[in-house]
Order: sequence, then structure tokens, then C-alpha cells
Amino acid sequence: MSLAGKHIVLGITGSIAAYKSATLTRLLIKKGAEVQIVITPAGKEFITPITLSALTGKPVISEFFAAGDGTWHSHVDLGLWADLMIVAPATASTIGKMAHGIADNMLITTYLSMKAPVFVAPAMDLDMYRHISTQRNIEILRKDGVQLIDPAEGELASHLEGKGRMEEPENIVAVLEQFFATPNDLTHQNILITAGPTYERIDPVRFIGNFSSGKMGFALAVECASRGAEVLLITGPTALSASHPNIRRVDVESAREMFDIAVKAFPGMDAAILSAAVADYRPQQTVAEKIKRNEQEQITLTLTPNPDIAATLGKMKKPGQKIIGFALETNDEESHAIKKLEKKNFDYIVLNSLQDKGAGFGHDTNKVTMLSRSGMKLSFELKTKKEVAKDIVDIAFGSSSNRFT
Ligand code: C5P
Repeated sequence: MSLAGKHIVLGITGSIAAYKSATLTRLLIKKGAEVQIVITPAGKEFITPITLSALTGKPVISEFFAAGDGTWHSHVDLGLWADLMIVAPATASTIGKMAHGIADNMLITTYLSMKAPVFVAPAMDLDMYRHISTQRNIEILRKDGVQLIDPAEGELASHLEGKGRMEEPENIVAVLEQFFATPNDLTHQNILITAGPTYERIDPVRFIGNFSSGKMGFALAVECASRGAEVLLITGPTALSASHPNIRRVDVESAREMFDIAVKAFPGMDAAILSAAVADYRPQQTVAEKIKRNEQEQITLTLTPNPDIAATLGKMKKPGQKIIGFALETNDEESHAIKKLEKKNFDYIVLNSLQDKGAGFGHDTNKVTMLSRSGMKLSFELKTKKEVAKDIVDIAFGSSSNRFT
């Protein structure tokens, strides 16, 4: 476990816990990391840049321009330089600004340009921490792939007791060391992800679709992006948003649109994760005018097969590329999934059954079994889709913490 040589951007904000940032900086430097501090204007009221720059050996960045000589501090360069960004302490204000992209200081612009994984260690009074607004913003950050280092319980600057103390610097360093120790770094990997349903038009107002919400695919996109991968997320119609800077989102409607983009992009990819519930059939014809109701007449829709994106990418696959497919089955789940794994030339298949309560379409949770080409199998408990995404990525991209049984 080592931080040696790691480039760390440490964001400091206006909390009394900023005094602990000096210790955090010292510990990071001792572990061999190179630390660049970005401090908010309020942060400077709590700890001076002179103390901090003496520890890091680098000027502390606070303003967009250096007042003396007009030097421009590039948040974009910092975003590319960093292996990791941590905001410690993070105030309610900074958490809110990060969640909503309110880029009125150098710390937030740096966050918005950040390509590396981001950690946040909140510090505030217990009522502020508990407030529905703070909790909502924290939830947004979690969904955006930011990793939260929960505050500890204890005495607060207000002399109240409760949750809100910034985690101790030693423990923060341990979390960061653990992060770099697990081989979950996907930097420089290009990953294509399909998500959501497809809509196949019958006429201008009607379509054939399915109940897929896109939640699993979006959770996977955020998971890969927050590990440093560049993600191309091709999604069918969904109300979800994915705001991580490493995610390039392309919205499509039909299977054929999804097919065209996926096939074009796949040669430049290291992996594809195909979680979209692609319609297998579409109406042979889309009627130009809205079909009128006629009580005397039955109508027949003739359906024609859609191209199979997964099977096509499976045929295109080159050595070094990986494909992870999904299977949603209602009967004989495992044997169907294994057949699909082979037929479509997947490396892994993630099986979810409609028979499991809380799993599959629309839910925030999922219960999956992962099968590999080499015949191995791993079944997971019912978990949030975010946790399931982590498991899938750990397995498919080889983390040591999760092995096949
Ligand atoms: O054959 P089936 O639809 O059950 O296979 C499921 C897997 O194949 C999923 O990974 C799904 O995203 C993918 N698929 C696809 N294109 C299709 C149909 C399915 O990519 N036309």
C-alpha cells in the first residue's frame, strides 16, 4: 500500500477542521505523495497558505489569477495532473456547490475539470450535516461517483456532540492507501456501456418498449468513470442523469440507432458492458400518421428482428478487448445465460432473474450471479445497484478483493 509518487490535489474549505489539513498534508507528503493544495477564500480564514505551502513545497492555489503577476492557474491542467482529489474538510457550502456545479472559486472549477477519482471528507455541525439539503447534496455527489469519507461522531466546535467531525487525518490516509492498493484503477481504459430500454416506433405517438430504467447501466458508467475510465454511455430513453466528467453520453431511441453508434465506437474501446434491454423486434413499418381507433377492426403488427448489438460486437472483438453482457431470464436462468455467454462471445455474463424480489427492472437494488467464460460462477446478495456495479467492475477488471468461488 503506497502513496509514493501519487499526485494528490487536496481541497481545503472554510471549516474549523481545516487545522487538521496541515496534519493530513504532512502525512501524505511523508508517504511520498506530491500534494497540490487548492483552498477556498473561506478556507484561508482558518489556515494560512504560508503554513500549507511550507509543508507541500508548492504555492497554494486559491485565486484564478496570481495577483502579483497575473499568472493564470489552470484548473484543467490540475484535473489532468492529479491521480486523486480529496476535499478535506468539505463544508456544507462546498458540498452544495460541487453537487450543483456552482463554479465560483478555484476549488470547484478544479473539481469540475477533475479526471481522477474524487473523495470528500465532510466537516460541519451535526444539525447542518443532518439537514435534508446537505443530505440531498451528499446523495447527488455519491450518485456522481464521488467517494464520501463519513464524518465521525464526537465533540464538535460548537461543543455539541454528534456526527460531523472530519475523519482523523490518519484514517483518511488509510482510506486513500486502501484505494490505491486495490487494482481498480481504470485510468486510460475506454469503456462502452449500453443502458436503458429502446423504443421502437409504431406510429408518431406509440412505441414498443420495455420496463428497463437504465439504473444498472448508469451505475456502471459512474463506477467505471470514477475509477478513471473514459466512458461512452449509449443510452435509450431514460430520465436518469450522469454528470461525471469522464462520461460521454449519447442518447438514442431505437435499437438500430444504438447499434450504429456501438459498432462504430467499439474498435476504439478496451471493453463493452452491454446492460441495455434492447428490443429484439421492431414494427416492420412505422406508420406516418397516428393509427385511428376502429372498434370493428383488429389490427396486426408485423415485427421484424433488430440487429443484435451484443452478437455483432462479439464477432468484432479483438484480443485484449472484453465484453460483459447481461441476461434477464424468467426460467432455466443459468443454462440460458451460459448459452448466451458463448453464442455472443462474451467474457462475462451478469444474470438477473425476474423471480428475485427487488431485482431487475426499475428497482434501486439488484441480485446478480456472474458467470465467466472459463466456467466460474459467483452469486451476490441483494444489494444497491451502485454496490452491484462495484462488484461487476471488480470481477471483470480484476480486483483481488472479489474472486470467483
Ligand atoms: O439475447 P438477449 O437479449 O437476452 O441478450 C441479452 C444481452 O444482449 C444483453 O447484454 C443485451 O444488452 C444484449 N443485446 C444487444 N442487442 C440486442 C439484444 C440484446 O446488445 N439486439
